[in-house]
Amino acid sequence: MKKVKHRNLTNRLSHTLLAFLLAFSTLSFSQEVAEAAPANGGGDVALGKTLFNANCAACHKRYNKSVGPALHGVTSRHDLEWIYSWIKNSAAMVKSGDAAAVAIFDEYNGSPMTAFPALSNGDIDNILAYAEVVKTDPVPTATTAGGESSAGGVSNNIILGILALVFLMLFVMLLLVNKTLRRIAEANGVEYEQQEKRLPIWKAFAQNQFLVFVTAILLLLSSGYFVYGYLSQIGVDQGYAPVQPIHFSHKIHAGANEIDCTFCHSSARTSKTSGIPSLNVCMNCHKNISDYAGEEDLEKGYTKDFYTGEIKKLYDAVGWDEENQRYTGETEPVEWVRIHNLPDFAYFNHSQHVTVAGVDCKKCHGLVEEMEIVSQFAPLTMGWCIDCHRETNINVESNEYYTKIHAELSKKYGVDKLTAAQMGGLECGKCHY
Ligand code: HEC
Ligand code: HEC
Ligand code: HEC
Ligand code: HEC
Ligand code: HEC
Ligand code: HEC
Repeated sequence: MKKVKHRNLTNRLSHTLLAFLLAFSTLSFSQEVAEAAPANGGGDVALGKTLFNANCAACHKRYNKSVGPALHGVTSRHDLEWIYSWIKNSAAMVKSGDAAAVAIFDEYNGSPMTAFPALSNGDIDNILAYAEVVKTDPVPTATTAGGESSAGGVSNNIILGILALVFLMLFVMLLLVNKTLRRIAEANGVEYEQQEKRLPIWKAFAQNQFLVFVTAILLLLSSGYFVYGYLSQIGVDQGYAPVQPIHFSHKIHAGANEIDCTFCHSSARTSKTSGIPSLNVCMNCHKNISDYAGEEDLEKGYTKDFYTGEIKKLYDAVGWDEENQRYTGETEPVEWVRIHNLPDFAYFNHSQHVTVAGVDCKKCHGLVEEMEIVSQFAPLTMGWCIDCHRETNINVESNEYYTKIHAELSKKYGVDKLTAAQMGGLECGKCHY
C-alpha cells in the first residue's frame, strides 16, 4: 500500500488561488491609477496648484463661484491670448473696451480683479491646467445629483461584495476537492496518516488538579483587578470622544491652520465657561472655504470628499446657499455632544485658570491641536484638581495682590513659593457650592 500526502494537492490549489487573487487586485489597482491621472495637456498641474493657492484662491475657486467666477472651464469661454492679458491686467482690458472683458466686469461689478503683471504665460498655463482638472467624485449632497461619478463609490462596495463571494465559493470548492480526493483515495485502498487517538484537551485539563487550582486562582485575581478598575472608573470619562454631528477636526483648524483656541473659545479668557463657538463664527471663514483641499488620512477614511461633505453639513445648518452666495434663512441647530462635564456640585472657572493663573489649555486638555476628534485628556477628578493646586506655583510677579499675600505667607510659613493650595485652593467651599 502506498501512502499519499494528499495535503500537497490542496497546497498547490491554494497557491493557484493566491496567485489568481493577486493578479486580480493588481489589475483593479492599475485601473484606478489610470483613472486618477488627469487628462491634461499643456501646463503642470502641481505647479499650477501652488500658484493658484498663492495668488488666486482668495477670490477664485475651481468649481464654484466665489468673489470671482469659477475658473474651471474658463479656457472654453475665452481664447488663451485673452486670458493671458486679462490676468496680467484686467483693468486695462476693461478700459480698452474689450467686449468680453466689459461684460464679465459688469457682471461682478464693484470687485475688480488684481493685476498680475509678474506672472508669465507659462505660469498662467500651469494655473489653467490646474483649474481645468476634471472634478472627480463630487460630494453627494442633496443639491448636486452626482450621476455617473457617485456610482464610483457604489461600485467599490459591489466589487468588495463580489470578491467576498468569490472567496467563499473558492473555499467551498477547496473543501469539496479535498473531500473527493479523500474518497477516491479510500476507494483505492490508499491509507493516509491519521492522528493517534488522544484525550480531548478539556478532559486532560480536568484530570490535572494542580492546573485547575492555579487557573482558578489566576481567574480570581484578574477578575478582582478588573472589578476594582471598573469601580474606580465610574464617573470618570477620561478618553471620552463622542462622534459629533459635524466632523470638526481640531487637528485641521487649530493644528494645520494654526487658528488660536480663543478665536473660537473666546469666553475662556473672560468667563466661567469656554463655550462652543456659534456657527456664525464658522461662517466668517467658511463663506469662502467650501471645499477641503488639505491633507487627508485615507487609512481612517478622511478623504477630501469626506471633509468637504462635512463643510456642506455646516452650510445646511446655517442655511447658506452656496450657489447664490446668500443665506436662505432656513437654519437648524447643530447639537454638539458635550465632552467635559463636571458634576453640578463642583465649581470650575476657566477665566480664573486661563487668565488669572495663566495655565495653558494643554495642561488640562492635552494637545487638542493634534486631535482629529477631541477626547477628554484629564480625569477631571477631585484628586486631579487638588494635585495641581498643590504643585502649581502662582505667578506672583507683576501682580501686586499676590506679591502682598506672598510676603505675608512667607513670613508665616517660611516658604518662598506660593502654590494655589496655599491660596485656598484646597478649601472645600472654593470648589463646592
Ligand atoms: C482680488 C480678487 C481676485 C484675485 C486675487 C484674482 N481674481 Fe480673477 N477675477 C476676480 C473677479 C472679481 C473677476 C470677475 C471680473 C471682474 O470683476 O474683474 C475675475 C475674473 C477672472 C477671470 C475671467 C473669468 C471668466 O469666466 O471670464 C479669469 C480668467 C481670472 N479671473 C483668473 C484669475 C487668476 C488666474 C488669478 C490668480 C493669478 C486671479 N484671477 C486672481 C477677482 C480676483
Ligand atoms: C475653529 C474653531 C475652533 C478652534 C480654533 C478651536 N476649537 Fe475647540 N471646539 C470647537 C468646536 C466646534 C467644538 C465642539 C465640537 C467638538 O467637540 O469637536 C470644540 C470642542 C472643544 C473641546 C471639547 C468641549 C467639550 O464638549 O467638552 C475642547 C476641550 C476644545 N475644543 C479645546 C480647544 C483648544 C485647546 C483649542 C486650541 C488648541 C481649540 N479648542 C481650538 C471649535 C474650535
Ligand atoms: C479662522 C477660519 C476658520 C474658522 C473660524 C472655521 N474654520 Fe473650518 N476650516 C478652515 C480651514 C482653513 C479649513 C481647511 C481647508 C482646507 O485645508 O482646504 C477648514 C476645514 C473645515 C472642515 C473640513 C475639515 C474638518 O474639520 O472636518 C469642516 C467640517 C469645518 N472646517 C467646519 C468648521 C466649523 C463647524 C466651524 C465653526 C465651529 C469652523 N469650521 C470654523 C477655517 C476655519
Ligand atoms: C485648569 C484646567 C483647565 C484649563 C487650563 C482649561 N480648561 Fe477647559 N475645561 C476644564 C474643565 C475642568 C472643564 C469642564 C468644566 C465643566 O464641566 O464645568 C473644561 C471644559 C472646557 C470646554 C467645554 C465647554 C465648557 O466651557 O464647559 C471647552 C470648550 C474648553 N474647556 C476649552 C478650553 C480652552 C480653549 C482652554 C484654553 C484657553 C481651556 N479650556 C483651558 C479645565 C481646563
Ligand atoms: C493645571 C493646574 C490646575 C488644575 C488641573 C486645576 N487648577 Fe484650579 N487653580 C490652578 C491655579 C494655578 C490657581 C490659582 C489661580 C489664581 O492665581 O488665583 C487655581 C485656582 C482655582 C480656584 C480659585 C482658588 C481661590 O483661592 O480662589 C478654584 C475654585 C479652582 N482652581 C478650582 C479648580 C477645579 C474645580 C479644578 C478641577 C476640575 C481645578 N481647579 C484644576 C491650577 C489648576
Ligand atoms: C480644587 C477643587 C476642589 C476642592 C478644594 C475640593 N473638591 Fe471635592 N470635588 C472636586 C471635584 C472636581 C469633584 C468631582 C470629581 C468627580 O466627578 O469625579 C469633587 C467631588 C467631591 C465629592 C464626591 C465624591 C467624588 O470623589 O466624586 C466629595 C464628597 C467631595 N468632593 C468633598 C470635598 C471636601 C470635603 C472637600 C474639602 C476638604 C473638597 N471636596 C474639596 C473638586 C474639589
